[in-house]
Amino acid sequence: MSRAILRATALAACALSVACQGPQSMLGTNNPGGQSVEGLWWIALASTGFLSTVVILALGYAVVRARRAGRSGPDHPAPDVDGIQRESSVILIAGALGPALFLIGFLTLSVDTGQEISRPPSPPTLTVEVVGHMFWWEIRYPEAGVVTANELHIPAGETVAVQVTSADVIHSFWIPQLSPGKIDMVPGRTNLTWMLADEPGTYRGQCTEFCGTQHALMSMRVVASPPEDFERWLDRRTQAPEVPSDLELRRGLSLFSQYGCDACHRIRDVTLLDLIGTAGPDLTDVGARSTLGALAVENTPETLGRWILNPHVYKPGVRMPPTDLSEEDLAALVAYLRSLDP
Ligand code: CUA
Repeated sequence: MSRAILRATALAACALSVACQGPQSMLGTNNPGGQSVEGLWWIALASTGFLSTVVILALGYAVVRARRAGRSGPDHPAPDVDGIQRESSVILIAGALGPALFLIGFLTLSVDTGQEISRPPSPPTLTVEVVGHMFWWEIRYPEAGVVTANELHIPAGETVAVQVTSADVIHSFWIPQLSPGKIDMVPGRTNLTWMLADEPGTYRGQCTEFCGTQHALMSMRVVASPPEDFERWLDRRTQAPEVPSDLELRRGLSLFSQYGCDACHRIRDVTLLDLIGTAGPDLTDVGARSTLGALAVENTPETLGRWILNPHVYKPGVRMPPTDLSEEDLAALVAYLRSLDP
């Protein structure tokens, strides 16, 4: 019995502790919105912890008292009517009035925090559009005309306005360290939020609305760079990739159309179906991206080759079908895709 309790306690402790650290923790952020949410979270934890303790103690007291009363047998003294009335009013106050007051107070604080985090801390210097897809993120910089996927680059120290929507089902956008909270991505509707990275660095985001088999592998990397580095990053992507002069790479490009990759994937100003191929991620800068399949696996020539042959190895349930390229064709296609590095 004691072993079972020990195991259950260890399991509960693990489950509780994983949420408190790591790249997706919302605790200890430098972000003003995140700090407000964290403040509210601590108040909720302390107050509900206190209330739970009081309730458990009261329950324990009631059990012990009932047992003692039972043990005294049928000869115990007649019930104390005044005492019962006194206890009834305690139950009324502690069981109904107390929770009602607590909930009203907590609701007021929540509404207050919600209003506070809905306002960006400073006027945004950049707007990005993020479109949720099953199971990846389309990222657009409308002012620069740049489209990429799964890797969101932003200038550090500046507020960024984020407009989110979805191309299929409901997803939810959340970068715990940078954004003030989760925001739903709803088809046919644009929701607004903001994000701010105080420090340059790499952060992690996650879809937080169950959207299908690959919901858990719908993650995002956010790279915050010093503003001048970010401008350079964005500027390099405003030019479309050139058609390669190298013969092998050229063959890779023709295979891209031959195998119908361009029916789903766009390469800016290169693919013929420039406006149609948006079912899968835009590949204009795929050679520069650090992961494949929305953080499913690191992006290397080997993983890219394996992904093209059968992406389900890395991401079961992904919408991209397997292919049957020969070894030579695969090598040419991988070489071409890897060359898409602005
Ligand atoms: Cu997208 Cu869960």
